[in-house]
This record gives sequence, structure tokens and C-alpha cells, in this order.
Amino acid sequence: MQNSIILISCILTGPFATINKHQIFRVLMPLLHITCASFPALTIKIMAPKTLFEAEKTNGHKTEFKIRQLEISDHAKGFTELLGQLSQCPSLSQSEFEARFADLVALGDDHHIAVVEDPTSGRIIATGSIFIEKKFLRGCSSVGHIEDVVVDKATRGGHLGQRIVNYLIDRAKAVGCYKVILDCTPELRVFYEKCGFVEKNVQMALYF
Ligand SMILES: CC(C)(COP(=O)(O)OP(=O)(O)OC[C@H]1O[C@@H](n2cnc3c(N)ncnc32)[C@H](O)[C@@H]1OP(=O)(O)O)[C@@H](O)C(=O)NCCC(=O)NCCS
Repeated sequence: MQNSIILISCILTGPFATINKHQIFRVLMPLLHITCASFPALTIKIMAPKTLFEAEKTNGHKTEFKIRQLEISDHAKGFTELLGQLSQCPSLSQSEFEARFADLVALGDDHHIAVVEDPTSGRIIATGSIFIEKKFLRGCSSVGHIEDVVVDKATRGGHLGQRIVNYLIDRAKAVGCYKVILDCTPELRVFYEKCGFVEKNVQMALYF
């Protein structure tokens, strides 16, 4: 049955080269289970962006979660309270939140805040962000900076953190970054190693 299936994504995606790859995949993925029996050399496996997944909550129930981009309505869903589990994050008025949201939207794809919403409670339970730094080095290459990864206390240990980090890594790869980097405390070394990172160099900081 696989033999008869739909042909090659390149043909379809070629004319849409200027459209965001993720948008194309989101539309085409249900159609693209491609195995081209007549031309095995052309067989392509296309991975859906890893935005949908099932995970077990602390009550043992499996729930389907989705990683998506931060939206303005997430202010009312506990986004800044969640950030408060990582570092100081005093509550923001709606207008303060919207002003900062607009600043970040202006950066386009170079700044992306990912969130996971609990479909049952409607609360934001995990987040992480990536900033794409465009460089002159290495032939005008780019570096991804992962920041502000936090999972709600009640949901830790269910691999949400790892999923968020993997999602951010995938975004960095998709835009051609040659590496992703982040800072963390020594206690989190193992967590990030499990996400594929290796320790490199020394972090320096100057606080104001
Ligand atoms: C760090 C954090 C994001 C991890 O999220 P999480 O969803 O609980 O972690 P995961 O379940 O995805 O962990 C993935 C793996 O790393 C391990 N791990 C997670 N945190 C760890 C830690 N602190 N020390 C050692 N191993 C850890 C898990 O056991 C798991 O291992 P496994 O694959 O063998 O089962 C979460 O603990 C958190 O929000 N902490 C507070 C905020 C923070 O410090 N953020 C990091 C900023 S750099």
C-alpha cells in the first residue's frame, strides 16, 4: 500500500521556496508518507516538526501536548508566573506584556519563544526561547542562543524540558545555525548532556 503513495515533497515545495519550511510541512505532512517503490533511490523520509507529542502527567494520565510559539493570550495563562520559577519575574500589566511582545515580534524569526500549554488546565507549563545571532564569522553564519528554559514544578520529570530544548535545537538547525549554545548551573549539566550538549569554555557574567 505504501507503494502507491504520494510523490516527492521537493516537487511540491520547490515553488514555495520563500515560504517558511514549517508552514509547508504543517500543510503537507498528512499527505506525505512517501515511499517511492519505483524509484527507491528517491525515497525520502520527511520528519514532521516535533510539535505534537504525548506525555504522562503526574497523575499518570497520558495527555497530548503541543509546542507552539508564545501568544499574547499566554499572559493570562501563567506565562510570567512560570518564568518566575526560573528567575525574578515580577508580574506585568497587560500593556507592559503587550509592549514587550511587540518588541519581540519585530525581531521576526530571529527570536522565538516556545511554550507548552496544558490542555486540561489551560496553563502554560513549559517554555524556552532561542535567539538567532547573525554573524560575519564563518561566512556570515548564525549561532542559536537558548535561554529561559523552565518546566512547571508539578510537571518536571516528564521530559517536557527535553522536548522544548530539542524543539529549539531543531529551529536553530532549520535556519542554518552552525551551533547552539546556552549557560546553565553545574546541577543542570546532566540534563543538557541528555539533550546532546557538551561542556565547552567558561561562562562570564557582569551584572548591573
Ligand atoms: C531543568 C528543567 C527544565 C528540566 O525539565 P524536566 O522536564 O524536568 O526534565 P526532563 O524530564 O526533560 O529531563 C530529561 C532527562 O534529564 C534528566 N534531568 C532533568 N533534570 C535533571 C537534573 N537537574 N539533574 C540531573 N538530571 C536531570 C532527567 O532525569 C531525564 O533523564 P532520562 O532521560 O534518563 O529520564 C526543569 O527542572 C526546570 O524547569 N528547572 C528550573 C528552571 C531551570 O533551572 N531551568 C534551566 C535554565 S538553564
